[in-house]
Amino acid sequence: MDDADRDLYEQAMAVAANAYAPYSSFHVGAAVRARDGRVFLGVNVENAAYPLGVCAEKSALTRAVTDGCRPGDFEAIAITASPCGGCRQWLHELAIDRVTYARASGEVTTTTPAELLPDTFEL
Ligand code: THU
Repeated sequence: MDDADRDLYEQAMAVAANAYAPYSSFHVGAAVRARDGRVFLGVNVENAAYPLGVCAEKSALTRAVTDGCRPGDFEAIAITASPCGGCRQWLHELAIDRVTYARASGEVTTTTPAELLPDTFEL
């Protein structure tokens, strides 16, 4: 992992403290860096109606898109957990170059959306 990706992962770890996860107590942070250098942070936000909760990486990516980013604008994302299946589809959609995340074992690894979700459909 290069210094920039390590810094992004550290930002994801720091923001995880802001997660709202009273039901799972599983606090997740995410940080995505656009090619222009902007960094967008996100956390998981849970709800008593469980399926309504949102994941940290979706929160971060939603903020980035709100501020004008589009697929292909992203260099890297860091997530303090292994991305769920739905979020892997988001990582694919937004065409992020590199994904750094913590495996369940605690090992931090860097890979690509295609590795995380092979053989995706195209519309
Ligand atoms: N979670 C994330 O925020 N990102 C992931 O990709 C894995 C799961 C959150 C969702 C939920 O609030 C909690 O972790 C437990 O599933």
